[in-house]
Amino acid sequence: MRRRNFLGLSAMSGVGIFGGAHYLLNSCNVVKAASQADFMVQGTDPLKVRAAAKNIIYGATTHLEKLQKDPAFAQQFVKECGILVPEGELKWRSLRPSSTTFNFQSADVLLQYCQQNNLLMRGHTLVWHSSIPDWFAGTVTTQNAEQILVDHITTVVNHYKGKLHSWDVVNEAINVPDGNPDGLRTSPWLSLLGPRYLDIAFKTTATVDPSALRVYNEFGLDYGNSSSVQKRTATLKLLERLLNNGSPVQALGIQAHIWSRDMPKYFNPASFKQFLKDVASLGLKILITELDVADVDLPLDIPSRDLLIATSYQQYLDVALAEPAVIALLTWGLSDRYTWISDYYPRSDGAPVRPLPLDAQLQRKLAWNAIAGALDRAPKR
Ligand code: G3I
Repeated sequence: MRRRNFLGLSAMSGVGIFGGAHYLLNSCNVVKAASQADFMVQGTDPLKVRAAAKNIIYGATTHLEKLQKDPAFAQQFVKECGILVPEGELKWRSLRPSSTTFNFQSADVLLQYCQQNNLLMRGHTLVWHSSIPDWFAGTVTTQNAEQILVDHITTVVNHYKGKLHSWDVVNEAINVPDGNPDGLRTSPWLSLLGPRYLDIAFKTTATVDPSALRVYNEFGLDYGNSSSVQKRTATLKLLERLLNNGSPVQALGIQAHIWSRDMPKYFNPASFKQFLKDVASLGLKILITELDVADVDLPLDIPSRDLLIATSYQQYLDVALAEPAVIALLTWGLSDRYTWISDYYPRSDGAPVRPLPLDAQLQRKLAWNAIAGALDRAPKR
């Protein structure tokens, strides 16, 4: 008989610091009384195995150079992950050195790595206002924008035809405060082509590679505060419009860059659950595409900080994974050794950030337990 092995507590020293449970309030009620004991999980199976048991795919993002230069990291990546999404290699700024050339070198090596190590690969991203190459402004006009967009998508999607799990076809197209109709972001693509750029992107992708799941990927959908709720409404409207136009979007990617500091104030489990249900009722799948938990303003003390971060993971994922339309979960990085948050949201005390499942020494931490536990509790798809 298999020996039961509980992870989480044995690895913790200084347990006394958790003598009192942390009671967390959200806008409606007490949502959790968290202590270390809430994060015990059974066995040592990696996240990809726990996910696969529920027909969910677990994985993470990384840059190629991390896998190449850091074999210990690469080993953990392959152990924990069933899917990889390139953090930059498929963005325009990497792929498009000039208006007439493509550089697939790094992304091709990543694909080869995935194929050799039994990892699926996602594509991120075909259209994004934030990865516009320097040559773009002097080259792309209202006259040639459609052709350039179609050429880009056709060439890139064709290059990886039949080889990717999914494409983030359009990324972050909504920004309600911009004041445009339907909440669309003022982006170069919107200015050049109007809202139809989204239809062009989804239709072209579907024509070139019908086999890769076509995802609309967005951030800022996580909370129950007014800006999140407005963005959810705009997102649902956009998805409905695309579907009504015959533009073949198949899934919503919810980035889920959450801040532990904000969870007690703004996370509303009931409204998040309803949003997921609303998306699913459009016939769409859902992917949690970029989950991480920023530790801005959390205590410096590591056990206390990790407990708060793990609690945020648990609260978020218990709601997200209860929705059967959620078919994949990716964290935006695997180890605190490599995370965009170090550069974009460093702590004011200068301490290293701890937003991911493994610590900077590649050890599983409480956040790992929180993800593992949420996967174990999730209903099977
Ligand atoms: O390549 C240069 C390198 O040569 C140089 O030494 C280094 C110095 O800082 O910069 C490198 O480029 C950086 C690149 O990441 C690779 O590390 C860019 O400055 C930096 O802006 C870029 O940031 C990425 C960002 O997207 C913009 O593309 C982050 O790593 C990446 O995590 C982030 O990912 C986004 C998703 O695509 C969309 N959702 C939000 C998410 C987080 O911002």
